[in-house]
Amino acid sequence: MPTKTVSFQLNGAPSRAEVQPGQSLLEVLREQFRLTSLKDACAPQGQCGCCLALVDGAPKTTCAIPAEKAEGRSIVTLEGVGGEERSLYSDAFQAAAGLQCGFCTPGLALRIKWLTDQDRLLSRGEIAKALDGHLCRCTGYVKIVDAVELIHAAKRGGERPRPVADGGVGASLQRVQGGELTLGARPFIGDLEAPGLLHGAVVLSPHARARVLRIDTSRARAAPGVAAVATAGDVPGDRWVGIVYRDWPVLVAEGEEVRCVGDVLAVVAADSPRAAREAAALVAVEYEPLPPVLDPAVAVQPGAPRVNPKHDNVLSTTRFARGDVDAALAASAHVVTGTWATQRIEHLFLEPEAALAVPLPDGRLHLYSQGQGIFDDRRQVASVLGVPEDRVHVELVPNGGAFGGKEDMSIQAQTALLAGLTGRPVRLVLSREESIRVHPKRHPVTMTYTVGCDAEGRLTALRARILGDSGAYASVGGKVLERAAGHACGPYRVPAVDIESVAAYTNNPPCGAMRGFGVNQTSFAIEGCLDLLARKAGLDGWEIRFRNALRVGDPFTSGQILEKSVGLEQTLLAVKDAYYAARRAGKAVGVACGVKNSGIGNGAVEMGKVRLVVRRDGKLDLHAGFTEMGQGLLTVLVQCAVEVSGLPAATFLPRVDTRFELGAGQTTGSRGTLLGGRATVDAARKLRADLDAGATLRDLSGRAYVGETVIDDTTAPGQTRNGKIKTHTAFGFATQVVLLDAAGKLEKVIAAHDVGRAINPQQCQAQIEGSVHMGLGYALTEELPCKDGMPVTFKLRDLGVLRAQHMPEVEVILVEDPEPEGPFGAKGVGEIGLVPTAGAVAAALEAHDGIRRTRLPMKDSPAARAINVGRIPDGGRGDWH
Ligand code: FES
Ligand code: FES
Repeated sequence: MPTKTVSFQLNGAPSRAEVQPGQSLLEVLREQFRLTSLKDACAPQGQCGCCLALVDGAPKTTCAIPAEKAEGRSIVTLEGVGGEERSLYSDAFQAAAGLQCGFCTPGLALRIKWLTDQDRLLSRGEIAKALDGHLCRCTGYVKIVDAVELIHAAKRGGERPRPVADGGVGASLQRVQGGELTLGARPFIGDLEAPGLLHGAVVLSPHARARVLRIDTSRARAAPGVAAVATAGDVPGDRWVGIVYRDWPVLVAEGEEVRCVGDVLAVVAADSPRAAREAAALVAVEYEPLPPVLDPAVAVQPGAPRVNPKHDNVLSTTRFARGDVDAALAASAHVVTGTWATQRIEHLFLEPEAALAVPLPDGRLHLYSQGQGIFDDRRQVASVLGVPEDRVHVELVPNGGAFGGKEDMSIQAQTALLAGLTGRPVRLVLSREESIRVHPKRHPVTMTYTVGCDAEGRLTALRARILGDSGAYASVGGKVLERAAGHACGPYRVPAVDIESVAAYTNNPPCGAMRGFGVNQTSFAIEGCLDLLARKAGLDGWEIRFRNALRVGDPFTSGQILEKSVGLEQTLLAVKDAYYAARRAGKAVGVACGVKNSGIGNGAVEMGKVRLVVRRDGKLDLHAGFTEMGQGLLTVLVQCAVEVSGLPAATFLPRVDTRFELGAGQTTGSRGTLLGGRATVDAARKLRADLDAGATLRDLSGRAYVGETVIDDTTAPGQTRNGKIKTHTAFGFATQVVLLDAAGKLEKVIAAHDVGRAINPQQCQAQIEGSVHMGLGYALTEELPCKDGMPVTFKLRDLGVLRAQHMPEVEVILVEDPEPEGPFGAKGVGEIGLVPTAGAVAAALEAHDGIRRTRLPMKDSPAARAINVGRIPDGGRGDWH
């Protein structure tokens, strides 16, 4: 292919690049100059800011600039900023806890350099507006704006930000690898290199349902630079994978049906990413299109076409029943009934899926994964390759966000297959569009509720019928709808319940785990019911919740009697004054509560495993099995180890790989802190005992301390153990208040959360701020509508994730009602932060305009109309469920 020589100044040095037609400046800077502070999260959209560089002194998204336009320009990346200034940015981001996964952070840091180099004072609102070109899915932006203020002040002679370098439980210790992440110096998988590296690309189905008649790879195989093209026939082992059911083929074969637009037909390995993609486009697939099954209500009817050959269309049914609901409703003073509907949304973690597979000299394979369960990755990849598990070594490269969307395998197995076929390292990184098509989403759910209360507003009975669209593959969809059912009463005492929840297969994109795991959906419904009942009973939103709030001794939805750590009442009291002050001031205000289990529970045996290995240099490797994905788990584990061992935080070097058998399943269900923390405490106690006996770390070199914890006393829905129901080990509780301004726009969110114990208060707060951000998008603007099973848009701004300027003030109140089964009383906060949010927004909107909204996202509201993202053209809204 003809290339053109382009000359420019790069980080102060004269530079030249050979540029191919159509190549972006981002591709050239990353691939030819290895400048990895620039990340690719949406190329060529130019909508996330991760690829930012200063071009002739102005911030530009390099994915949207043709490389040839660089001729004669001056380009500065974060690598070209002076060392002292770079450390200011990393210190400020860490001191403010302004980063989580860190994928968006280098781009933001460079924007902030440009912003704070200008000689003007900036309000928080102006800072937020200036960050509009950047998307952060983790932080909620609050602490990013804090970091900007720190940098701005330090550049003008103010105090230099100082991250907390050491500390145990209760310290706001700086994030593990936070400095490197801020500067783009800690590689993600897309940044890793290997000698002889090949690049992978996928061929995806354009149809949601079709028979595959023929896959012709001949033209792709003949394309320049191609080393291998693999189809189903090349899989030596079992083609079918899945966390719960093996119902998902890593490659769809000729003669089979494709079941969604994320199905993979072929994969290509070539000597550059561009060559791989161009060759993938040459794979010719002949289809016989079939009518897709798109409506879950139709899918579960007898006679509906079967979506998946491994399971009928009813993926799961969960029931909870207690008491005589009909009699209780008949005797109730007030009864409300209605249907609530929630939408499919995209995780939009900033780092798209990526894997690197490296064949080792001894014949084994080293797989670098960003999955949420590397031991599940190992099991499934080994099964696809048809080799014993010990032939595959998996190492976690902490990922750029996941939120549940990286539990299922994405392209790990296909990448491993290509490495096996070529005998060379292969790296495969999905584009944003491919990422959206491939991984499971948050379930759209329809919920019909009937709820009664007595004359004083005390709940009497609840009936709920819940139907979720799980899409083409099981993923963990059955568990999501199980969790939706198990939390259907919210954090309220309901004497009689009759709940049925069904997950259905369809040809829509698969749905699975996403932060909140089914609980956000039923929370929206039950909170709406409470508001409707409050009006009938003559109560306000706070009062009806306080009267019904779960307390120790009350039955949870599942019938489990809560015996400990129920901090809901405290969270209600924490917001009470603000709620009533807002009402007195005539403000539109809404309140909602939430509950979320920690740990999978429901009868699952769960483990936490940690191994502390003393190194020769006097440090300790802290091996764990759960995934760091921005939530701060590795930092929390280090703090637990510090607290018990008394050693400094810098002594502990966390690692997540399959070197030791530390498999404990997926990093899911807000359980990393609960289980990983307990196991770390166990290992650190053993270490401490040896230190107390007089040994030094040098004496203990090579010694390994095993920490293990098991939870095996939970009960499956409808089951008891020794006459007792215990569906979950621990629960987080929350109350959130949403205030609108006179125009109905978001003004403030107050989030009071019972976290048991805040192991790292600043990062705990940051988790909640990030969740509130996600919850506000869920409430108002986010959706992923599909037409004929295909998402109608892949543009980041269309998907409706809020930008910094859309965020209201967020006040987080941490309530600590210690959980006896958690490490140091902690119970995990990864998910609950957005459980009550949509309900509180709906209540505030009703207070503003009198309209009770029962469908998400509430785009018809003034709060949503004030937000300039999430504006999918009407044409896309015809047939989503
Ligand atoms: S990758 Fe360039 S703006 Fe997103
Ligand atoms: S920290 Fe911003 S996307 Fe993860």
